[in-house]
This record gives sequence, structure tokens and C-alpha cells, in this order.
Amino acid sequence: MAAVLTGLGGYLPPKVVSNEDLSATLDTSDEWITVRTGIRQRHMVADGMSTGDLAVAAGARALKSAGHPAVDTVVVATTSPDRLCPAVAPEVAARLDLGTVAAFDLTSACSGFVYGLATAAGLIASEAADTVLFIGAEAFTTLVNPADRTTAPIFGDGAGAVVLRRGEQGEPGALGPFDLGSDGARADLLAIPAGGSRQRSANGGPGHDAVPHEDWYLRMVGRPLYQHAVERMTQSANTALKKAGWAVTDVDWFVGHQANARIVHAVAEELAVPEERTAVNIDRVGNTLSASIPLLLNDLAAEGALMPGHRIVLSAFGAGLSWGSTVLTWPDLSVESVH
Ligand code: COA
Repeated sequence: MAAVLTGLGGYLPPKVVSNEDLSATLDTSDEWITVRTGIRQRHMVADGMSTGDLAVAAGARALKSAGHPAVDTVVVATTSPDRLCPAVAPEVAARLDLGTVAAFDLTSACSGFVYGLATAAGLIASEAADTVLFIGAEAFTTLVNPADRTTAPIFGDGAGAVVLRRGEQGEPGALGPFDLGSDGARADLLAIPAGGSRQRSANGGPGHDAVPHEDWYLRMVGRPLYQHAVERMTQSANTALKKAGWAVTDVDWFVGHQANARIVHAVAEELAVPEERTAVNIDRVGNTLSASIPLLLNDLAAEGALMPGHRIVLSAFGAGLSWGSTVLTWPDLSVESVH
């Protein structure tokens, strides 16, 4: 038994913010951002638009791509939920008219998509679910300080969704073995300190200091993260390939989380995947966390670069720290462009 990919869809909010636009208000430049990150523009939610809105739009497209099957479970991977409680997945399921299905959120930052695929595959393997709509959705720019030039250029908003059904190992679209890992000792490298149970009150209160304004926003220590990202994604992708019994030369596409084009190329080089088989779309969307890999798959498939029968290795790394990888052979899917 296996979880098999049977639908794919994505959504980007209409507002596009270029590097030049950012340079108008931040001490940065198109050249710095492009050279250091590969990012040229990102999409951002307009006021009033939330992660749930993005998830519904991407979910609807994935359901259409799958031919509107009966779904019994909805999982949303997000690190920028509409609110702390409740999870956004039940509301997304209701807005998609899926009825009283099982629905929950999963938080694993930039590795959320791979963790979510593994979770969905586990639900299907345990027979808790037959068909899962799994969505990676992020309005993460709402949690990034627009005045912080070290983070503001990097992130973008969007959502990507897949439909997974029960099937057989070896058929196109079957998710391969997974490698998952974490290192919580390095949690401080990428964190939003406030808003949870540790720093809980904006105004202080009995026994609590007021939370400084900056603590509501993302803090990132870029340099060491870069090194961890390259090391962990390489190691993890190699482990997934080994578990699957695939050689690197079997791989048609390396689909890595888009945190930085330099990171993606460095991992590909370590893996010995040639540049023409290394997928990159960060120039158009920035780092969209758990939406990054499905949006990249959507671009590749919609452009016809990713073809049925292609073998791909997916690998992600993010806050936690956390990472994960898996492999699959691309199935025959109808996919709409998000641009
Ligand atoms: N515009 C212009 N200059 C900037 C800048 C910006 N937006 N951001 C930082 N700088 C400056 C710094 O102040 C520093 O100046 P200095 O040399 O005078 O001190 C210089 O550029 C270099 O900064 P540094 O942070 O060392 O750059 P870098 O080459 O490491 O690139 C990142 C920064 C963030 C792009 C890179 O470290 C990275 O991608 N890290 C991983 C991030 C990541 O993966 N995050 C998500 C995990 S999924």
C-alpha cells in the first residue's frame, strides 16, 4: 500500500512586490537581493487576506486537478495560521464544501510540506484516511518585520496543495520512503519569540514582562542557517535516495525547498545533480515555507518540464531546525499555471 499523488494545485496572491519596490523603503538593493538570494520578486497578501484564503484557493485547484474525488481528511501545513486557535484546516474544509471531514494543522516551517506528505502517507497506511487533501499555505510576510532588511526581502506568500489517495507501491505518484529529522538545540537560529505560551502578553501583566515589539516578528541568523541547510538537505536527500534504492543518476529533478537559490545549487552540487536537473523558481516567489515545494512542482508541471515518468527527489529544511526528504515518480496530472 502507498499514498499516491493524484492532484496538484497552487495559488499566489495577486500583489507582486519587486526588489526595486522593497528598496524604496529599505536600505537594500535589487543587486544585493538577487546576488545573495536569487530572489527578484515575491507575492504578498493584501490587507485582509489570510493563509486560509490562500489554502482554499490552492485546495480548490488541487481538487480540480484530481477530478474532484471524495476527500476524508484535510491537513494544512502552515507556520502563519489565521490565528493561534483553532487550526485553519477545519475552516478550509468547510469553505471547500468537504463536509465534516477530519482536519488539522501541522507546523514545521519550511519542512512542513515534506513532514505533511509523510503524515498524510501515514494516515493512509494506517487506514485512518483514504483520500487526503494536503495543503502547504503561508501568509508568512505578515510575521516578518517590514523594517528588517535581513528578513523582509526573503519571504513571500502563497499556497500549494496535493491530493493523495490510497494506491500501490511502484505506481506513478506513489510516495517513496521518507527521511525526517530535527535539531531543536538550534531553534534560536530562526524563531518568532512572542505569541506563544512563553512570551504571552503584549502588555505584560502579573508575573510577565511586556513583550518587545520586535519579538512578534521573525528573527533569523542567516549565516549558520545557510550551512545547516546545505548539510542537512544533502544528507537527507541522500538518505531518501538510498532507502529507495535510487542512484543520483536516476534522478530527473532535484526539487529542493526554495530558501535561497545559492543553497539549492550548493545542495545539488553536493548531491552531484547537474544544474539542468535542479529546479528553481525562487526568483519569482521568494521563500514561501511550506508552500515552496508544491509551488515549485506546480511551475515545473505547468511548464511541461516535469513529465510523467520523471523521477524526483524532494528535500526541505527549515526552522526547528527540521528537515525531510522523499522520492517519487511523477504521475500524469493536469496542472494549471499559478502565474
Ligand atoms: N541588503 C543589503 N545588505 C544587506 C542586506 C540587505 N537586504 N541584508 C544584510 N545585508 C548586509 C549585512 O549587513 C552584511 O553587511 P556587513 O558585511 O557590512 O556586515 C552583508 O550584507 C552580508 O550579510 P550576511 O548576512 O553575512 O549575508 P549572507 O551572504 O549570509 O546572506 C542570507 C544573507 C540571509 C541571504 C543568507 O545567509 C541565507 O540565505 N541564509 C539562510 C536563510 C534561510 O535559509 N532561511 C530560511 C530557512 S528555510
